[in-house]
Amino acid sequence: MLTVPAFRARKGTGQPLVVLTAYNAMTADAAEAAGVDALLVGDSLGMVELGYDSTLPVTMDDMLHHAKAVGRRRREALLIIDMPWLSYHLGPAAAVENAARFVREAGADAVKIEGGKKRLGVLRALTDAEIPVMGHLGLTPQSVLRMGGYKVQGREGEAATLLLDDAAALADAGVFAIVLEGIPSELAARITSAVPVPTIGIGAGARCDGQVLVIHDLLGLLPGPVPKFVRRYADLHAAATEGIKRWAADVRSGSFPGRDESYG
Ligand code: KIV
Repeated sequence: MLTVPAFRARKGTGQPLVVLTAYNAMTADAAEAAGVDALLVGDSLGMVELGYDSTLPVTMDDMLHHAKAVGRRRREALLIIDMPWLSYHLGPAAAVENAARFVREAGADAVKIEGGKKRLGVLRALTDAEIPVMGHLGLTPQSVLRMGGYKVQGREGEAATLLLDDAAALADAGVFAIVLEGIPSELAARITSAVPVPTIGIGAGARCDGQVLVIHDLLGLLPGPVPKFVRRYADLHAAATEGIKRWAADVRSGSFPGRDESYG
């Protein structure tokens, strides 16, 4: 099984890290069978599994419910679980209690929190409690109200400098990796060469130490458009709809179930 130190040690080896979200037995099994390096139970589950239009309504109970399912099916991949909004904003003690539930109840190897310097207190409390932490900078979905929408971050000089400073501060404080989301490729490349821990990009170009995608986007599990940074490798929504239509037609015509699908 991949460990946090082994994940971190991939920095600079030229072997890109492959991280994919998972939310249940089906997605965890598929990602494990494909040999990804890490499973991320993202709070994107709010949108792709629970039907909300942001990650803000996602609770600890929601995360635990899905994280436990993924934890039961994890085999070789590192298991990282997202701390949902307000599970780490109310002080270091509450953050440690919540993160410890992911470790104890779901078998997490690490947790992920969003934000830069303002999270250093929480980050130190988590690492002091021996819980490895992945950082997340750039387009941080839990900041959607402050950002005024899901917009590429760090385009201006000052914003780019702040992100470089945030990344350095997170690395100094002990994160084992940093997700860079929705920032210009050139800035992601600068951050990647400046920090000693792996950067995992999503909408941050090719010059990161690894990549992460939401499995629903990659496999086309939901209808509708996907962000510019997604490449679709399957259209499972269309395949599922087609299968269900054929079954419904067979039920309606009386050809399902047949003799082979019935007990004598
Ligand atoms: O919630 C999530 O799925 C994430 C990834 C997209 C990085 O944070």
